[in-house]
Amino acid sequence: MIAEKIRVALDERSYDIEMGAGNLDRIGSLCREVGLSGTAAVVSNTTVAPLYYETVRLSMERAGYRVVPVTLPDGEGYKNSATLNLIYDGLVDASLDRGSFILALGGGVIGDMAGFAAASYLRGIPFVQIPTTLLSQVDSSVGGKTGINHPRGKNLIGAFYQPKAVLIDVATLDTLPEREFLSGLGEIVKYGAVLDGGFFDFLETNAKLLLARDKEALIQAVSRSCAIKAKVVAEDEREGGVRAVLNYGHTLGHAVETLTGYTRYLHGEAVAIGMVQAARISQHYGFCSQADRERIEALVVALGLPTELPSFPARQYREALSHDKKVRDKGLLFICNQGIGAYRMERLTDLGALLEICGIGE
Ligand code: NAD
Ligand code: GLY
Repeated sequence: MIAEKIRVALDERSYDIEMGAGNLDRIGSLCREVGLSGTAAVVSNTTVAPLYYETVRLSMERAGYRVVPVTLPDGEGYKNSATLNLIYDGLVDASLDRGSFILALGGGVIGDMAGFAAASYLRGIPFVQIPTTLLSQVDSSVGGKTGINHPRGKNLIGAFYQPKAVLIDVATLDTLPEREFLSGLGEIVKYGAVLDGGFFDFLETNAKLLLARDKEALIQAVSRSCAIKAKVVAEDEREGGVRAVLNYGHTLGHAVETLTGYTRYLHGEAVAIGMVQAARISQHYGFCSQADRERIEALVVALGLPTELPSFPARQYREALSHDKKVRDKGLLFICNQGIGAYRMERLTDLGALLEICGIGE
C-alpha cells in the first residue's frame, strides 16, 4: 500500500519520498518510474540483507534489472574509509558503469555510506534510499547529506548528494530492536517541538499507538516528519541558514555522545536529552513558558527516552561544546524552542551560564 508521496523540491535535483506499509516490493517499479536503467548494486549490511534483500532482488528482477549485492559489516564503527573501499570493490567487481545505480538498503550508516559511494564512484552515479530504521526514515535518508567518519571526528568526510527517490516501508520497522525504534522517536519529537505545534499535539495524543508501532500512526508520524524536513531542505539545501534548526537538541546531544565515547547513548537518546535541556534554556531566557518546557519533557519521557545529562564536570562539557562545528567566533549557535512549534537561533557566548541552567556546575 502506498500511503503518501512527498516531494523534495530542489529544481533539477527534486525527488519524491514514497511511503507506505508493505510497499518494499514496489522498488523495481519505482526505479523504472524515475528513469533508472542498468545494473543495481544493493548496498546493505549483514543484519538487514538477510531480512529484506530477497524482496528487493525479486522486485528489481521483475522490473528487468540486473542486481548485485554488496553486503557490509554492521555498525557505526564500520562507517569509515575501509568499508567505503569495500563498496567501491563491489561496484568495480560487478563492472558497474555510469549507466548503473545504487540502492541503499539499511539504516543511516548504510544510507550515508552508500550515498557517498554513489556521489564519488565514476564521479557520481544515481542512488535510491531505502531506509529501514525509524531514524533513517525521518531524517538521514532525506536531504542529501552523505559521508563517512574520520578517526578524529564523525561525518568529517562527505558530500551533499541527493538521491533519485526515497522508498519508505514502515513495515520494515517491525524487525527493528526496541531501543533503535525509540531513538528514532527522539528525532520525530524535534520536528514537532520547533517546527510544527500541531504535529507536537499529534505526538502527545498518539504516543501509545506509536510505541505499539501502529502502522497508521507510524505512517502519519513518518510522513509529517519527512514533509517538514523536505520543506526545510528545499529552503536551505546546504545548511547556510534555516537548515540549522534541525540541530535542535543536537548541540548538547553531540556533547553527550562525545563525552560518553558514542557507546552509552544512541543518537536519538542523546538528542532527547539535548532537547529537554534546550527547553530548559529556552524557558530560562523567556522564549517558552514553564508549561511548554514541561510538555516537551513529558513527551520525551512518555516515549521512553532519557532526559538528564550524564554527570561530567562543566570543564569537560565546555571542551566538548567548543569542538561543536556550530561554534563560530561569535559563540555557540544554539537552537531554542519559541513556545512549542517555533524556534529561534541564539548566539550563546557564556557556556558556563548555559551549563548552569542545565544543572552542570564546575
Ligand atoms: P544504523 O544504521 O546503525 O542502524 C541501527 C541498527 O539497526 C543497525 O544494527 C542496523 O543494522 C539495524 N537495522 C536497520 N534496519 C533494521 C531493521 N529494519 N530491522 C532490524 N535491524 C535493523 O543507525 P541509524 O540510527 O539508522 O543511523 C545512524 C547514522 O545516521 C549515523 O551514522 C548518523 O551519523 C547518520 N545520520 C545521518 C543524517 C543525515 O542527514 N545524513 C542524519 C542523522 C543521522
Ligand atoms: N540531520 C540534520 C540535517 O539533515 O540537516
